Amino acid sequence: MSEVSTEEFYDDLASSYNDIIYRCAPRYEEMQQTMMQYVPGDLQPQRILDLGCGTGNLTLRVLETFPGAHVVALDLSQEILDVCRRQCGEQRVSYLQQDFSDLQLSANSFDLVVSSIAIHHVDDLTKQVLFQCVLESLKPGGVFTFVDQFRGETPGIYQQHMKVWKTFADAKGVPPEEWQMWMEHQEQHDFHATVHDQMKWLHEVGFIEVDCLWKHVLWTLLTARKRT
Ligand SMILES: C[S@@+](CC[C@H](N)C(=O)[O-])C[C@H]1O[C@@H](n2cnc3c(N)ncnc32)[C@H](O)[C@@H]1O
Repeated sequence: MSEVSTEEFYDDLASSYNDIIYRCAPRYEEMQQTMMQYVPGDLQPQRILDLGCGTGNLTLRVLETFPGAHVVALDLSQEILDVCRRQCGEQRVSYLQQDFSDLQLSANSFDLVVSSIAIHHVDDLTKQVLFQCVLESLKPGGVFTFVDQFRGETPGIYQQHMKVWKTFADAKGVPPEEWQMWMEHQEQHDFHATVHDQMKWLHEVGFIEVDCLWKHVLWTLLTARKRT
């Protein structure tokens, strides 16, 4: 198994990502739709940050849901940002190549920060620093909502998650080499943490209204709000 960085992995996957993700992530659209349904009605976001935007599938959904908003699409991989740019255009989106482990964001600058299946790429300590950084980048009353892959509370639950995921992938006709690619990627670049720990970290950095809005197998949607 050859070691590649997360950046190289997504650079290589950029052009095929949209074909692959729908058959590899169960209920991919549903998790993003649910995220949008739960953005509080009083928020009316004007400036939105998408962390780990990838090819821009969530970015597009955010643009559609909030037609008056401007989105900053941030990712580590330049190749995938280029695909995102082709998919989402220049008019209401700006693009930032940054690493979650060294985010440079202006304070009090976003009403809403979203993320889909991206934050598990950094280790647990970096996640906690990232949560702090997101809190600082939000305006008072701003919302952070993200869906991601989470570890089970016990090794048994986590193992069962992996089995259920494999059954889903088999039913979708995912070829063995593609499954193998995800498993190698998971071994090299994924740091799944539990729902309990991540909700605790969100509280610890100062978020309020922390809640779990949706869950299916590994995939879990959390929300949190900055005090007004
Ligand atoms: C599974 S994709 C998800 C893309 C998109 N959000 C979606 O839901 O389809 C994960 C994305 O996170 C980005 N990513 C991974 N590690 C990152 C890091 N340390 N900093 C910034 N982006 C990162 C990858 O480049 C990739 O585009």
